[in-house]
Amino acid sequence: MSTDERPGAASDAPDGGPAVRRLDDWDRDTLDALADEHGTPLYVFDPARVRENCRRLGAAFPDAEIQYAAKAHTARETLRTVHDEGLAIECASAGEVRRALDAGVPGRDVTYTAVNPPARDLDAVVEAWRNEPDLTITAGAADTVDRLAERGFDGRLRLRVNPGVGAGHHEKVVTGGHPKFGVGLDRAPELAARIDREFAFAGIHAHAGSGISGDDLENHRELVRRLGELARDLEADGIPVETVDVGGGFGVPYREDAPALDLATVADATREALGAIEGRLAIEPGRYVVADAGVLLTRVNTVKDAPSTVVAGVDAGMTTLLRPAMYDAYHAVRDLGAEGGENRDTVGVTVAGPVCETADLLCENRPLPAPERGDLLAIGNAGAYGYEMASTYNSRPRPAEVTVDGETLRRRETLADVSRLDAARDSNRRNDEEDT
Ligand code: LLP
Repeated sequence: MSTDERPGAASDAPDGGPAVRRLDDWDRDTLDALADEHGTPLYVFDPARVRENCRRLGAAFPDAEIQYAAKAHTARETLRTVHDEGLAIECASAGEVRRALDAGVPGRDVTYTAVNPPARDLDAVVEAWRNEPDLTITAGAADTVDRLAERGFDGRLRLRVNPGVGAGHHEKVVTGGHPKFGVGLDRAPELAARIDREFAFAGIHAHAGSGISGDDLENHRELVRRLGELARDLEADGIPVETVDVGGGFGVPYREDAPALDLATVADATREALGAIEGRLAIEPGRYVVADAGVLLTRVNTVKDAPSTVVAGVDAGMTTLLRPAMYDAYHAVRDLGAEGGENRDTVGVTVAGPVCETADLLCENRPLPAPERGDLLAIGNAGAYGYEMASTYNSRPRPAEVTVDGETLRRRETLADVSRLDAARDSNRRNDEEDT
């Protein structure tokens, strides 16, 4: 997206709000009322906060192309909001490309980052490109380039490189140096030259990893430095590099006492490490845009005094919010039920979901007010990779997601939804019933 089309860019949109919205900043009565009306587990999302996050990014990176990594939160309202704020959309699959186009985002503001792309994805994206010829594809392997050519694609193609350095909040989300992603820096010039000959070369790309904090800044800086160097090498070879896309990964403070990422510092470090390039810097934040715009509400249904901890059994678990089980991720927990009046003792609380797996815990032995059956718990920073990673494991319907104003973003799945995809073979099935 060109600079003049960016309504959310720094100067004309100063209202970037506070650097972070903490779990305590959410209004208890509003959350209570939403849980009563829509039931739990329930994701609550605030598009106004998404706008603020976009504006702070725009202010810190006024000259960059900012692409929102849709995988963090794909609700149509979110894609429309971020696009309205001037961000383009970075998609990880044909499904996300479809969502972006369905949300009304024009192809010129859509990039598809192909990672070992299944044939179905390539077919669908190339077909979408025929109607939206300004759409950009990012390829991370020579094979992918071949497979695109075989399908008749000769449009905007960006090259994902493996910069040999990565970063992230957990080893499972460090991408930069992993052989899975991108072509080695040594092989990049040859492939870039080929792309420049056969396609519309749309620049270079790399992504260090996800959840980068101030501590990881050195690795981010090194990645950017290597990309800047590659861009200059390519330009010296007569290959114009339209965009140097340094990926996403900007972290958010999951712990209540962790400081907010200093965007200005990251932006300065990025520009300095990049050095002078002829093309334009691009970034691809996902988490930063949506994490603190969402909370998860869950109701305590069982309280058990175990010898080492008080177990609060709740109706959300690893199928609702996978991050704690998958990455040992910390999410703040607030017991709204304990804020009603009487003082409760603080005890070590383990919040446990309904899935028969030990990993199905939202926190372990966390100091919290002694829970009571019926309490409503709020889980913080659930806007990014929360709903998106929800599953129907254990045949558990996925939760609903509503805005703070009570608009439904995604309706709650029903038991009928859970079995709807089964081949209906026997007559005892109740597939048609809308039971919940
Ligand atoms: N660009 C690319 C190519 C990516 O693969 C990703 C994330 C992003 C941008 C955005 O990264 P972000 O700004 O959101 O950190 N499920 C994990 C995160 C996995 C991220 C994968 N790629 C989590 O919940 O922490």
